[in-house]
Amino acid sequence: MSPQRLLFVCLGNICRSPAAEGVFLHLVAREGLADRFVVDSAGTGSWHVGKPADRRMLAAADKRGIVLPSRARQIEAADLGRFDRILTMDNDNLAAVEALARQGRPAPGTEQALIEPITRHCRQFRTQEVPDPYYGGEDGFEQVLDLLEDACGGLLDDLKSR
Ligand code: 4NP
Repeated sequence: MSPQRLLFVCLGNICRSPAAEGVFLHLVAREGLADRFVVDSAGTGSWHVGKPADRRMLAAADKRGIVLPSRARQIEAADLGRFDRILTMDNDNLAAVEALARQGRPAPGTEQALIEPITRHCRQFRTQEVPDPYYGGEDGFEQVLDLLEDACGGLLDDLKSR
């Protein structure tokens, strides 16, 4: 069975999507399912390309035993053909990825990724967006992780039966 390919997307690729990537990797490792998924993250913007996750996000994740391996990169049209599913953090990211999908045509023989808000997989929280923590305080980073643990748990449950 070929692995399911997931791309998490936010604006800067230094806070929310690296956290989503790290939380999802943490969950699949815990369940012994690492070989069933290929996981990456990207930003719709390019300001932070090449940088590790924001130190506040890294610290909040570390407290929960979660490692964030990402280096920021910008999403590109080819990602729509490389991944099976693109999970966006907020309505702006969703609109940006949908616009990118309309621009590019999938290469022959490849299907375009399914694009959806990650919050669709939440079981506990009822919200459409993962709020951007960049200009806020420390508790914003904790809230992001609470939401992403809920959403990634739901996502993994939805995907592992496929
Ligand atoms: P992210 O957070 O989209 O969750 O990575 C942000 C990071 C940087 C900026 C905005 C949001 N910025 O404006 O530089």
